[in-house]
Amino acid sequence: MTTLAILTAAGSGSRLGFDLPKALVPLRGLPLVLHAARRLTASGAVDALVVTAPNGLVSVMSDVLEHDPHVSVPVVVVAGGPTRQSSVAAGLSRARADMDTVVVHDAARPLAPAAMIRRVVETVKAGHQAVIPGVPVVDTIKVVAPRGQVEAGRPALPEGVDRVAATPARTLLRAVQTPQAFDRALLVRAHAAGAARARTEATAATDDASLVEALGEDVFMVEGDELAMKVTTARDFYYIEKLLIEDGR
Ligand code: C5P
Repeated sequence: MTTLAILTAAGSGSRLGFDLPKALVPLRGLPLVLHAARRLTASGAVDALVVTAPNGLVSVMSDVLEHDPHVSVPVVVVAGGPTRQSSVAAGLSRARADMDTVVVHDAARPLAPAAMIRRVVETVKAGHQAVIPGVPVVDTIKVVAPRGQVEAGRPALPEGVDRVAATPARTLLRAVQTPQAFDRALLVRAHAAGAARARTEATAATDDASLVEALGEDVFMVEGDELAMKVTTARDFYYIEKLLIEDGR
């Protein structure tokens, strides 16, 4: 029973204000991707790592990861695709038949703690084939009507105005994080069935669990962790630096 982790790091842009792909931006001296890889391997729940790199940066990413003494499992770096979904598919094509569990994790979540990584993997190994971490939301979340299509019987909306279509009960909402863990065969089937969506951001799945849901299969949720927050903006970066200092590593 072995577990492969796919670490997505092929995003090209960075809204952090650095002239580097986000995964290579240093957080207290170490690239985000290296923080994430170290935590995955320190969990003891992962036996091998496939990292997706932006086109043209495969060897740079390999240098960062392959010589790190704390990344104690075999690492392969592959070129990612134009969307996160296609990058995960590229990583998944490297999964061997003896790997029963696949973990998908974003380098943009560099501080996911070992206990949380073990929680998702162990829940899959216990028989739940698709397991994701989630945290309650603090804001009220609204669904807005899609723009760009005229709604029957309603006047067109001016730029900057959306119509609210629904308010899901907040007690039932969760913000979803990574790592997400899956039975390998189920994840391969989900990516194969959803492959046509992977080409552009307009259609691509934003997480792997939604591809499993699209198959009609159950997805289960366990507790997430504030430390697994995603770094997108300079403010997130500032905040995660504080979390890292508090966490003592
Ligand atoms: O851009 P965003 O933060 O949503 O990306 C989530 C994760 O997916 C990041 O770790 C990013 O590097 C990765 N990604 C990827 N291939 C893409 C786009 C994003 O591996 N084409």
